[in-house]
Amino acid sequence: MIVAFLNQKGGVGKTTLALHLAGELTRLGHRVLLIDADPQGSALDWAEQRNREGLPRLFAMVGLARETLHREVPDLASGVEHVVIDGPPRVTALARSAILTAERVLIPVQPSPFDAWASAELLRLLDEARGWRPGLSARFLLNRCIARTRLLRDARRELAGVVPPAMAASVGQRVVFARCIRSGRLAFESEPGSTAAREIAALAAELLETGP
Ligand SMILES: Nc1ncnc2c1ncn2[C@@H]1O[C@H](COP(=O)(O)OP(=O)(O)OP(=O)(O)O)[C@@H](O)[C@H]1O
Ligand SMILES: [Mg+2]
Repeated sequence: MIVAFLNQKGGVGKTTLALHLAGELTRLGHRVLLIDADPQGSALDWAEQRNREGLPRLFAMVGLARETLHREVPDLASGVEHVVIDGPPRVTALARSAILTAERVLIPVQPSPFDAWASAELLRLLDEARGWRPGLSARFLLNRCIARTRLLRDARRELAGVVPPAMAASVGQRVVFARCIRSGRLAFESEPGSTAAREIAALAAELLETGP
């Protein structure tokens, strides 16, 4: 599958979740390519830190913050089972290109009463793309949830009725995720068996179960 993490909002967890999903699919024995399509290159920073720490490479990664992404992905994807795209922090030609190539778009959102879930522009692009690619699936994904808070309850209630719908899996606010770029590690490496690692495993399982 080709999964793209997109949201015009900065800091919602696109990079964190893309790295962890790629890592989890790798752990399950799949061949994975992560495309860093963010000009800031945070996923590449993680890989560099990992290298400095002398840790082994988990999955292939390329930096490809180009609007021609959709034309390049088919070639790049030929040797792997899954491509995970870490998207840019704005709705630009680059985001459009990611939508053109993705089979599944995940839109990370944080439980917050102040934010619209995603920009009208991103949703319009997704609608447009679905017009000629009916198989394209888009889902909201709750990230940085703090259990048993009113914010989370309200967010879940609101997400119950939105289009596109939300993934059943969600990810909590956890220190191990916050440390991952600096440590060059993933949650399942720094804290095997932790809630964080289990949440990522559940996310990957849900994606794998519900194809393509
Ligand atoms: N579930 C989480 N628990 C704790 N911290 C998190 C979680 N998800 C993300 N973060 C932290 O929030 C910050 C933003 O996350 P991240 O860089 O993944 O977002 P992003 O959407 O890729 O941002 P940008 O739009 O700038 O690329 C980072 O410091 C990251 O460590
Ligand atoms: Mg990012």
